[in-house]
Amino acid sequence: MILRCIFLISTLPSAISTLNILFYILLLGKSHIDFTDSLIESLVVRGHTVDLIIARMNSHVTTNGTSRTSRIYSYGFKEDSPWSKTPHLLDPFKPRVRTWNEHRHYMDIATELCEIGFSDPGLHDFLVGQKYDIGIATEYDYCGFALMRNYSIPSVASVSSMAILDQQSINAGMPNSAAVTSAIFETEDLTTWYGKIANFLNWAHINYIVYPYCQKSQLDIIKNHGLHVDNLVESIDIQFVNSNELIEFPRVVTPKMKYIGGINLKESKGILDESVERIIGDVKEGIVVFCFGTQVPSSVFPLEVRHAFAQAIRQFPDFTFVWKYELQDGDEKIFANSTNLKFLKWLPQTDLLIIFSMQNVLPRCSMNDPRHQNKFSSNGLNTPPVTLFFTEI
Ligand SMILES: *[C@@H]1O[C@H](CO)[C@@H](O)[C@H](O)[C@H]1NC(C)=O
Ligand SMILES: *[C@@H]1O[C@H](CO)[C@@H](O)[C@H](O)[C@H]1NC(C)=O
Ligand SMILES: *[C@@H]1O[C@H](CO)[C@@H](O)[C@H](O)[C@H]1NC(C)=O
Repeated sequence: MILRCIFLISTLPSAISTLNILFYILLLGKSHIDFTDSLIESLVVRGHTVDLIIARMNSHVTTNGTSRTSRIYSYGFKEDSPWSKTPHLLDPFKPRVRTWNEHRHYMDIATELCEIGFSDPGLHDFLVGQKYDIGIATEYDYCGFALMRNYSIPSVASVSSMAILDQQSINAGMPNSAAVTSAIFETEDLTTWYGKIANFLNWAHINYIVYPYCQKSQLDIIKNHGLHVDNLVESIDIQFVNSNELIEFPRVVTPKMKYIGGINLKESKGILDESVERIIGDVKEGIVVFCFGTQVPSSVFPLEVRHAFAQAIRQFPDFTFVWKYELQDGDEKIFANSTNLKFLKWLPQTDLLIIFSMQNVLPRCSMNDPRHQNKFSSNGLNTPPVTLFFTEI
């Protein structure tokens, strides 16, 4: 008996071993920090300790998150980040003007930010002398991985708050045949000749122009700081993607890609706040929830879009529409006759979904890619997308 106890106790340390984890995110939008929060939360509740580095590419996002991070280091541009002036952030409703060189805008800013971080003595003070078991970095740039290698973190994972990115797939050495794999930001209908040809042009652009440019600009700066760049992204041990394999388009993947879509779906409280219930009122046939993500403030909705929504919603008087939107000047008049439309400043999404057993959600679907709004798909809901801005890169 005593022997058995000793044996059991001796196995405990391995069963309860907790890890020191370093997170690095290139912060592009509010939803990215929300996603990171959920990941950190799920690590911390399992007993791990997490430090977080935030490379602040989008200076409109000022939060550090609400997570239970042990230590945070945040760096960014002294003034507004040039990324904050990107057209899709300034005016998400403006039709996109596509250019062959738009990736340079993104990459040049990310690389400048990398230089700011690498030259920041505070960042090195933050890292030096720490013993991390695992590093987790966003795969939108190379700098997190370079830092992790420089500080000898033995195991490195990547994470993306989106579906599989083209560069993730290239980094993992996966074949990206243009015949079957459409680019994440430029989805084409591959069942048509037009779609196939357009996809081939996108594919060639990404593989021969965008990817080599991004790789070169990032690796150059990393080398300038005396760090090794060999197999930097190729040696990532595991890649987490915020998607669900059931709704991914068919593509070649490796076992090191792990789908974690739905991880930041909050538990439902099972009841709605009284104030929310009062606003929604009686529901006849069902409810439809609108959400346009975190990058589209109510003030940027053009007048004609607001009129169009008001008119469209009036066509379905038996349904109650709930929209996370703050009324602007003149809106009382525009929406006066859309009595089945209710506005909430904050959307208790999960509770609404569960309580009304919702059938449909109208999500803002960035990048023209239905895979991006995977939060709901794990609940088996229909999510007809409203496409807003096509470009995030
Ligand atoms: C975010 O963390 C940094 C630490 O690097 C701190 O200086 C800053 O005040 C924090 N910002 C907020 C909004 O909490
Ligand atoms: C790399 O690590 C060394 C300490 O080992 C540090 O002095 C140096 O600043 C680091 N460089 C970068 C770019 O992280
Ligand atoms: C609302 O309905 C009234 C009466 O039918 C009409 O006069 C008014 O123009 C309508 N307002 C809008 C914004 O459609």
